[in-house]
Amino acid sequence: MRSLFYIMLVGLLPSIGMAKNECGDVGSRLYRMLQCHKKTDKHLLCGILKYCVTDCRDVLSDDRSAQSGVYSVVVNGAEHDVYCEMDLHGGGWTVFQKRFEGSVDFNRGWADYEAGFGDLNGEFWLGNSLLNQLVAQYESDLLIRMVEFDGEVHYIMYRNFLLGNASTDYRLDFGPPIGGNATDDMAVHDRQPFSTPDVSNTIFGGDCGTWYNSGWWFNDCFDANLNGLYLPATHTDPSQGIIWKNITGSFGSLQATDMMYRPSLAD
Ligand SMILES: *[C@@H]1O[C@H](CO)[C@@H](O)[C@H](O)[C@H]1NC(C)=O
Ligand SMILES: *[C@@H]1O[C@H](CO)[C@@H](O)[C@H](O)[C@H]1NC(C)=O
Ligand SMILES: *[C@@H]1O[C@H](CO)[C@@H](O)[C@H](O)[C@H]1NC(C)=O
Repeated sequence: MRSLFYIMLVGLLPSIGMAKNECGDVGSRLYRMLQCHKKTDKHLLCGILKYCVTDCRDVLSDDRSAQSGVYSVVVNGAEHDVYCEMDLHGGGWTVFQKRFEGSVDFNRGWADYEAGFGDLNGEFWLGNSLLNQLVAQYESDLLIRMVEFDGEVHYIMYRNFLLGNASTDYRLDFGPPIGGNATDDMAVHDRQPFSTPDVSNTIFGGDCGTWYNSGWWFNDCFDANLNGLYLPATHTDPSQGIIWKNITGSFGSLQATDMMYRPSLAD
């Protein structure tokens, strides 16, 4: 029955102008209704449909028992590896920032933040260019999870997460918080372009990226800076560190952070 359905679908594709190995707007929605399952991967038609895994929610829909880890997704016809968080808040989250031990230096310039850096199995920044393409596909939720050195966990979730492309300097956009137990310290970063130590796009012209050693959507300069220096729980360097002001204050730093998105469940 399923095979028959696939054959009908593939027959239908040319008529809606979709190349069989691309995931365009119309096509990807259609494909996603007909997800492949791991056990049928060898099937020719399923091999074609597989290209429509466009983010971690698709990975999880394909295989409800998929574990957190690195998976391949296709966006704009190109394949990319991403880290999927499959346990938190229902799973299916595509992670774009992960820190937990300080081995990866986040004090980097524009080109690195644009292309991404670090190790997908460790700490990393996925990259503004790819993130822009990923979140342009669907209306998405943003989830930020933070862990203090004493193990206390905080999180906050927002609706309508978007990242502009290079022409907007990767401007951040998100809607109101829709859950969590952290205060909304991202509020001042909404609708801000990205800045780095070598490229300042702050509204007041200040060189926040250089002062605070990171790439971020600095405003004047920040209430949250999750890409700041990896420092101990308390330190003497004001406003340095991985900061969420309400949790760390100016002389604290977080032990771990994860930033991730998922197509809105209602989508
Ligand atoms: C915040 O919520 C998470 C998930 O429900 C929970 O594990 C954590 O203990 C909560 N933290 C605080 C500070 O309430
Ligand atoms: C960037 O996004 C804007 C809309 O937000 C679009 O008009 C423009 O064509 C895009 N530029 C590139 C290079 O994709
Ligand atoms: C954190 O936010 C709560 C609720 O708004 C507030 O009562 C508390 O004083 C804040 N703590 C810090 C350290 O800013």
